[in-house]
Amino acid sequence: MGVKLGILGLGTVGTGTVQLLQDKSFRHPLLQEVEIYRVGVRSLDKPRAVTLPDSVLTTDLEAIVSDPAVDIVVEVMGGLEKARSLILKAIQNGKHVVTANKAVISRFGDEIFTAANQAGVYVMLEAAVGGGIPVIQPLKQSLSVNRIHTVTGIINGTTNYILTRMQTEGGNFSDVLADAQRLGYAEADPTADVDGLDAADKIAILASLAFGGRIKLKDVYSEGIRQVSKTDIAYAEKLGFVIKLLAIAQSAAPLAAIANRTTPSSPSSPSSPLISVRVHPTLVPKAHPLASINGVNNAILIEGEPIGQVMFFGPGAGAGATASAVSSDILNLVAALKKSKTALNPLLACAHQDYCQIVPMAELVTRFYARFLTKDQPGVIGKLGTCFGNHGVSLESIVQTGFQGELAEIVVVTHDVQEGDFRQALTEIQTLTAVDSIPSLLRVV
Ligand code: NAP
Ligand code: HSE
Repeated sequence: MGVKLGILGLGTVGTGTVQLLQDKSFRHPLLQEVEIYRVGVRSLDKPRAVTLPDSVLTTDLEAIVSDPAVDIVVEVMGGLEKARSLILKAIQNGKHVVTANKAVISRFGDEIFTAANQAGVYVMLEAAVGGGIPVIQPLKQSLSVNRIHTVTGIINGTTNYILTRMQTEGGNFSDVLADAQRLGYAEADPTADVDGLDAADKIAILASLAFGGRIKLKDVYSEGIRQVSKTDIAYAEKLGFVIKLLAIAQSAAPLAAIANRTTPSSPSSPSSPLISVRVHPTLVPKAHPLASINGVNNAILIEGEPIGQVMFFGPGAGAGATASAVSSDILNLVAALKKSKTALNPLLACAHQDYCQIVPMAELVTRFYARFLTKDQPGVIGKLGTCFGNHGVSLESIVQTGFQGELAEIVVVTHDVQEGDFRQALTEIQTLTAVDSIPSLLRVV
């Protein structure tokens, strides 16, 4: 007997998935057992790129998730509340779920995985992060024998495309964004992408898998790329860096060691991992493996023991890429359905019970890049150095290379510092009469 799919959504991802599943020529033989049984859409009148019998297409998505014949619900409709409630109903009705919806998982993952574990079903999400890049299952399985230190990703293609063009063409953010929208690389409402929210959803998911605890999305610091200027990109270039929107999840053990702290300041239970999770534009040394990831591509660098560094690279979006990821989840579920249903396979299910503890940004240890506009007078660099020294901030480089009108432009790169100390130094610097403004402040890996 075949495995019946109820697919919610027939847009970019849904259409790609149906196309892949309909082409039986060169896939894994288990996919032959899959039947596209129902596909839920908003409009039956819309022209479709795939041909499906009339009996398959429906606008009644509730009926799909409660149909006893459906084995696997594939949620590729997007959105929040409706998708959440349909996923939960599918789970309550004993169906396994595949979803590409990082926004739902990062917000409601706790509720969804708890319900799935209680119902004895799987929720699979390979397409939710990195599009076609296999990174969820590797983190759950092949890499789970390692102690992961850091996950660093370029996991938003839109912002990587914009920053790459600003880098290569010297353009302004707003001009490049407008062109990216015209060419279809950026959405009409680019907020989720350019403000770092999409990347925050995705790093919350990766962090949870890498560090073995659930993550509250509100604890993920996120800063987008709107304020990245062509001036900073040019300075970064001169200093040997490129600017990328990085999503970083990092074990706090090395951070605490650098900061000479042995215990976290927030209360902890011994079993909860202490990590930092953040998204922000970052100066990346040109020799760093992520520096050369350009355009809409995504890449995720995972560092751990004993494996060292592993990097996953590929298309982070698009019909074919996401269809590959969604179908790989379907394949895993078809295999699982063939086995006895006595217990969930812990390598496919979510096994996390506790939340990770998130290090406050003030305690983060990182390098900084800052650009100052100051009066062009003797002693200014010395005064800046004194303020930094007062707060234990050690400078790697300080250069004055340009002017903006009457004002001198001074660029500073620090050694590793605690963010709170660095910000205190900046507060003191802002009181100096010679300092006009601090137009840019970026972190450095
Ligand atoms: P999309 O092109 O906008 O397609 C959404 C589909 O869902 C459409 O077929 C739409 O029906 C249907 N739909 C939406 N709301 C509905 C509702 N309330 N009732 C019935 N049908 C509804 O979206 P997409 O780009 O495929 O993305 C789907 C999901 O995959 C999202 O969670 C997204 O974040 C994720 N994802 C997308 C990509 C990508 O490359 N696009 C990559 C990774 C992850 P109609 O066709 O009738 O309008
Ligand atoms: N909007 C996302 C990006 C693709 O620009 O990477 C879907 O995850």
